[in-house]
Amino acid sequence: MRLQGLTAIITGAASGIGRASAKLFAEEGARLALVDRDAVGLAETASLVGEATTHVGDVGDASLAETVVGDVVARHGRLDILMTAAGFSVGGTVLTTSLEDWDAVFRANVGGTWLWARAAVPQMQRQKSGSIITLASQLAVAGGKGNSAYIAAKGAIVSLTRTMAVDFATDGIRVNAIAPGAIDTPMLRRSFARHANSDEVREASRNRHAMKRFGQAEEIAQTALHLASDASSFTTGTVMVVDGGWLAA
Ligand SMILES: NC(=O)c1ccc[n+]([C@@H]2O[C@H](COP(=O)([O-])OP(=O)(O)OC[C@H]3O[C@@H](n4cnc5c(N)ncnc54)[C@H](O)[C@@H]3O)[C@@H](O)[C@H]2O)c1
Repeated sequence: MRLQGLTAIITGAASGIGRASAKLFAEEGARLALVDRDAVGLAETASLVGEATTHVGDVGDASLAETVVGDVVARHGRLDILMTAAGFSVGGTVLTTSLEDWDAVFRANVGGTWLWARAAVPQMQRQKSGSIITLASQLAVAGGKGNSAYIAAKGAIVSLTRTMAVDFATDGIRVNAIAPGAIDTPMLRRSFARHANSDEVREASRNRHAMKRFGQAEEIAQTALHLASDASSFTTGTVMVVDGGWLAA
């Protein structure tokens, strides 16, 4: 087992990529703290992974991050892995995005990365080890249509990931981003449903990938496992694109 004896916090664990990663990390021996604002989904994930603590709240809440890290350290004496998978998009160009939506998207995606890293790093520095895995998007590299707040937030996560990797590299902490293509999760389905011609938009998105299919959450979880484990011991400051050939096509 590749994560035997390690402890991990996963945000966004009630659904999609966070849930699939929680299942895989648990199978690989990790002890988990699962975070999400969706209490029902979080309980469902917990029932799938066996033993895990669950923490319901908003990842933009700085005190939640401090509380969860404190709880993990009190229980296990260490924190090895932080995966910040909580996030959402609202859609819209810069002309049609409200200030409230812009702020909410940045708070969840960027705040939900920064605040959790800020809470986790001091413990990882004490241990002289740790892996932080953030969630960007292939759109942060490529750009995209009608999704300005989300794409800007994912771009900020890429930059934040690189700068944290440099700041903490000599502390034994690795920080890497995953940039998925379109992954078949509730979030992706909601984003298609926003369009009047949702079938057309879904098929265009599917065909935009060189592999002509969407990714599965489990395929992103495998990349997260690689970044969480010692298999990636010389990998830091990278953006691992897992996009079925989207960027190449
Ligand atoms: N699905 C895709 O195509 C895709 C592509 C690229 C990147 N991503 C990123 O991967 C991550 C996971 O996405 P997913 O597809 O699994 O989505 P999802 O909607 O299935 O899961 C995201 C989870 O995050 C939680 N969440 C959102 N905002 C939160 C907040 N403020 N506080 C606490 N919890 C919050 C939701 O409740 C949900 O359970 C996100 O950061 C997303 O932007 C997804």
